[in-house]
Amino acid sequence: MSAKRYVCDSCGAVASKWSGQCGACGVWNEMREEVVRPGSGKASLRRTEEFALSDMRAWEKDPDRLMTGIGEFDRACGGGLVAGSLLLIAGDPGIGKSTLMLQTASHLRRGGRNCAYISGEESVSQIRLRARRLGLENVDLPLAAATHLEAILATLESANVDVLVLDSIQTMWLRSVDATAGSLLQMRSCVQAMLEFAKRTNAVILLVGHITKDGQIAGPKAIEHMVDVVMYFEGERGHSFRILRVLKNRHGAIDEIGVFTMEPHGLIEVSNPSAFFLGDMGENDEDAYGVAAFATIEGRRPLLTQVQALVARSPLATPRRATVGCNAARLAMILAVMDTHCSVSLHAHDIYLNIAGGLQIGEPAMDLAMAAALFSSLRRTPLPSDWVFFGEISLSGGVRPIPRAQARIKEAEKLGFGNAVIPVRTEIPKESSGLRIHRIAHLRELNALEPMRITPAPPQARRMAEA
Ligand code: TYD
Ligand code: MG
Repeated sequence: MSAKRYVCDSCGAVASKWSGQCGACGVWNEMREEVVRPGSGKASLRRTEEFALSDMRAWEKDPDRLMTGIGEFDRACGGGLVAGSLLLIAGDPGIGKSTLMLQTASHLRRGGRNCAYISGEESVSQIRLRARRLGLENVDLPLAAATHLEAILATLESANVDVLVLDSIQTMWLRSVDATAGSLLQMRSCVQAMLEFAKRTNAVILLVGHITKDGQIAGPKAIEHMVDVVMYFEGERGHSFRILRVLKNRHGAIDEIGVFTMEPHGLIEVSNPSAFFLGDMGENDEDAYGVAAFATIEGRRPLLTQVQALVARSPLATPRRATVGCNAARLAMILAVMDTHCSVSLHAHDIYLNIAGGLQIGEPAMDLAMAAALFSSLRRTPLPSDWVFFGEISLSGGVRPIPRAQARIKEAEKLGFGNAVIPVRTEIPKESSGLRIHRIAHLRELNALEPMRITPAPPQARRMAEA
């Protein structure tokens, strides 16, 4: 005989009797009925399921990995998909999740894998249209528009699929669960059913999840703990680049990223993101002042990018300060340090700061590059294009060491940079670098670096700057 119990949809508390209000968290109308299947009462692990940590046989084999053929995706997963695992790909609506999934599934299908793409959001003809746009209309990928999960899994039970895409979790529902699609209870139950399916059939399930703007109540956050891999697909509106970021991975490293650009015909891998974000930095342009190269770390990957500053005399009583892609408070702090410790005052200037390509950078390691760009713009003097800057500036003007200096230097070297300005106490192995390293302890020294030509501009340029 099966027993009934009541579970709060909000906090998960369990009660034997239904009530309008949850006794644990006080929320109204969230108690849902669940049926508990009876156990034998004498269950125990089978012999084959028992093992000790020291029993190495249990660890001998690394899991086999299924490569999707999309390098940036495989890289983000930690080197391909692990059979029987459940991956959650979450992101804002419209960011490109369905596109990524369709391309991935098609690639796998072309590689001879058994795949299926189930969409609860679009009709089959809409998916076909998208496939045509992506140039994938000739791939014999089984498609279905369906939301009834029991039916989907029953249909695929004997189909022997290697990879199954379900787009999206918010649209899937189980008949046996009395809750609307997209509710917490429905989503949890669906993930549970998929997990069970994945483990039993050894299929990989790629699960799409929308992040809802109004908090994460019905969002994918609530199911992150149940899946093996959590990835976020991110990007800025108005910019083409997309980053696939891994937040959780039971079978690999977290903090990996994959970089793509969204083009009219689909997502394109960016295997050299530094070159992408640096843009035309290499070209030596006499007017390209106010631009400094910076090496940031995205996930575990060093990325070179461009900090652009524009400093102009302001007609306003309160000059404008605007930043895109970086922290305005950080800019205010650097300006105060430049004023106090370098006698460079910008209080009568409008200042604009921009990170090229639409990247968002929060790390203080960018301080030095921001300062270099500001100095350069103020003096209408371009920085040499093969210089890269990184270091955190403290309130006293001191330049402090930053993490992962070695990786940043390596990346800059790979891209043909010749000089790096770094904090004085940065540790880097001797053999490591073909770059000329300039170590500085104080912001004043940046201002005084001879070969950077951050010297006062010639009189004519200065008159123009002051006009
Ligand atoms: P989509 O994959 O539908 O996003 P999601 O599933 O995350 O909601 O992508 C939608 C956006 O991507 C849409 O604004 C159009 C754009 N897009 C392209 O720029 N190029 C393409 O090839 C495709 C298919 C979409
Ligand atoms: Mg979609």
